[in-house]
Amino acid sequence: MTVYGVIGVGAISAAIVRGLCRAGQPGLPSTVLLSPRNAQLAAELARQFSTVHVAESNQQVVNGASVLLLCLRPQDAQAALGTLTFRPGLKVVSVMAGLTVHTLAGLVTPVTDLARSIPLPAVEFGEGVTPLFPPSPAASALFGQLGTVIEVQDERTFEALSASTATVAALLKYLATVAAWLSGTGVPPSLASRYVAAVFSGVLTPLQTAVEVDFEKLTREHQTLGGLNEQFLSVLEQAGIFSAVESGLHQVLKRLDSHQG
Ligand SMILES: NC(=O)c1ccc[n+]([C@@H]2O[C@H](COP(=O)([O-])OP(=O)(O)OC[C@H]3O[C@@H](n4cnc5c(N)ncnc54)[C@H](OP(=O)(O)O)[C@@H]3O)[C@@H](O)[C@H]2O)c1
Repeated sequence: MTVYGVIGVGAISAAIVRGLCRAGQPGLPSTVLLSPRNAQLAAELARQFSTVHVAESNQQVVNGASVLLLCLRPQDAQAALGTLTFRPGLKVVSVMAGLTVHTLAGLVTPVTDLARSIPLPAVEFGEGVTPLFPPSPAASALFGQLGTVIEVQDERTFEALSASTATVAALLKYLATVAAWLSGTGVPPSLASRYVAAVFSGVLTPLQTAVEVDFEKLTREHQTLGGLNEQFLSVLEQAGIFSAVESGLHQVLKRLDSHQG
């Protein structure tokens, strides 16, 4: 049976653990061993799921795991992993942004079965779309239970996909701004946010199963010549919003590249 060890109990690992425990078939639940730091969240997960346990130390997590998930903030990785001892047959899956396979291999020597992944919070609900590099049966088995996986063939592509996920909080802030504006006009706040959520879900949900997605075409289709969408879009274009999006993405990718070594 697979025992998933988790070092770094935080936002994304909690989503993975909840997703795994919910996905587990009756009689075959995934066993999870959590690192002790962030004791409150670890205890909450252990209370919620009988197959989740909190270890006494990070080394105990490594020793007890057959698949080890590294869910630390990248800046904590060296300090946390540098003091641990790893065995050759261990499988390691990292979610840490910007730490290349080469860097990770140096941190978990002598492990060779090593993969990077980009899970997003939707894994909690089995709706993740998780890029992996390099392809790894252990990582595919894990994230396959939590949605779909995309096996990426080179690390440069993986890094660019990772950079693109940095835009999610900005999109949510955009939606929050629309909802706040709407409630500022007198629409009750709960109606405003539910309405905005419904409008955008209506646009985005059908794309999940679309064979091809052409965002430029969709942009054209969602604006009538001389209409309100066209007016609003041109205000943002004139303000340079979309150039700022491109520039922000270049900056994020540059930061990810700077971690490589
Ligand atoms: N959040 C996401 O949606 C998302 C998506 C994809 C990838 N990621 C990646 O996932 C990683 C974690 O992100 P996150 O948002 O989950 O961060 P987070 O919520 O801050 O979780 C990180 C956890 O690691 C703990 N930690 C720090 N040093 C430790 C140590 N020596 N031993 C054990 N635990 C230690 C932290 O504890 P303290 O708070 O006490 O320091 C914190 O609880 C990052 O590398 C990020 O790039 C995140």
